[in-house]
Amino acid sequence: MKTTISVIKADIGSIGGHLRPSRRLLDAVRLELASGGRELLLDHHISTTGDDVAILMTHAHGVGDTRVHELAWRAFLKGAAAARSQGLYAAGQDLLKDSFSGNVRGMGPAVCEMDVLEREGEPFLVFAADKTDPGAYNLPLYLAFADPMHSSGLLLSAELGKGFRFTVMDVAHSSGDRVVELDTPGDLHELAVLLRDPERFVVESVRSRATGELAAVVSTTRLHNIAGKYTGKDDPVMIVRTQKQFPATGEILSPFAIGHHVAGGMRGSHQLPLMPIQQGGEVSWFDGPPIVSCAAYCLHEGRLTEPVDAFAQPFWDEVRQRVAKKALDMRRQGFFGAAMLPMDELEYTGVKERLTRLDGRFRVRNVRPVVATGV
Ligand code: F6R
Ligand code: MG
Ligand code: MG
Repeated sequence: MKTTISVIKADIGSIGGHLRPSRRLLDAVRLELASGGRELLLDHHISTTGDDVAILMTHAHGVGDTRVHELAWRAFLKGAAAARSQGLYAAGQDLLKDSFSGNVRGMGPAVCEMDVLEREGEPFLVFAADKTDPGAYNLPLYLAFADPMHSSGLLLSAELGKGFRFTVMDVAHSSGDRVVELDTPGDLHELAVLLRDPERFVVESVRSRATGELAAVVSTTRLHNIAGKYTGKDDPVMIVRTQKQFPATGEILSPFAIGHHVAGGMRGSHQLPLMPIQQGGEVSWFDGPPIVSCAAYCLHEGRLTEPVDAFAQPFWDEVRQRVAKKALDMRRQGFFGAAMLPMDELEYTGVKERLTRLDGRFRVRNVRPVVATGV
């Protein structure tokens, strides 16, 4: 059976700053999904990660279906109205357009979707990250799909050994989707050259080269490309199918134990390590550290099992301790160097404005004559 899995998420308001949506907000989203989804969807599940609400939907209508997207948009509008009624912070923040125009892509919410020809057992993972951006998944995807140090399946399974096709998007290009396809292991170094720059190049999807099937899809929205200014971090979602012709669930999770530094944290303007947390968890200290949750499901004839919280297992407590230490270490250098994001990634304009004002106070000393160069 062919089933579409759609994850659409948005920040529509939260309690105490950017911490967590309220119960009333979630009830409003749930109510809309329950009534609007009755005929349209095969199943759905609503979860939160930090201040973001993610709606997971399964249905038979294919990727980019207008009715499915409109349902999510309506649910977010209802949630945002509830947020306003309670005075929540940043109510309706990610709903950047006034009226729905066929697809939530380009309207603020983050989207990732895939059509799946269901296998006999169909395990998949839904990741949701808060206080960071889509490049946060670059390193885990590279390691899980292309590095045998994390994915022993690349050595142990003939199918996995054929490698994967990465589609990488240049998210700085706002007038269209500028993408490139790279096949591992052959293009491994080309892939590395792009993924090392996660604010510019973002993995959009990964496919099995053995079967051509989609293994992973990531939301690649850059809110500031839509709004023309920074309106919050993009807080990406990702779907990953696992086992058999894909890396095992544990191989996909393995790189998240690194706690790699990502863009985000306080005022969306710092570099801090990514902490794997339980679903429904929130941020606090320094609006961070950036967090990622992972819910594991199986799918059968479009119906979802209950989720298993992949980062709730005690192993991850040790990882969280390490990430907290790493975060504290980075914060010791405050705003200096690598601790704060480069100019164009800052969510605020204060630094640029101050630099412009300072410009006139510079003077050039010991002016040297221009020396002609060249032949
Ligand atoms: C992401 C998030 C942050 C904020 C940023 C600025 O979910 O909440 O990226 O957008 O911290 O927030 P303000 O200016 O509202 O304090
Ligand atoms: Mg937020
Ligand atoms: Mg958020």
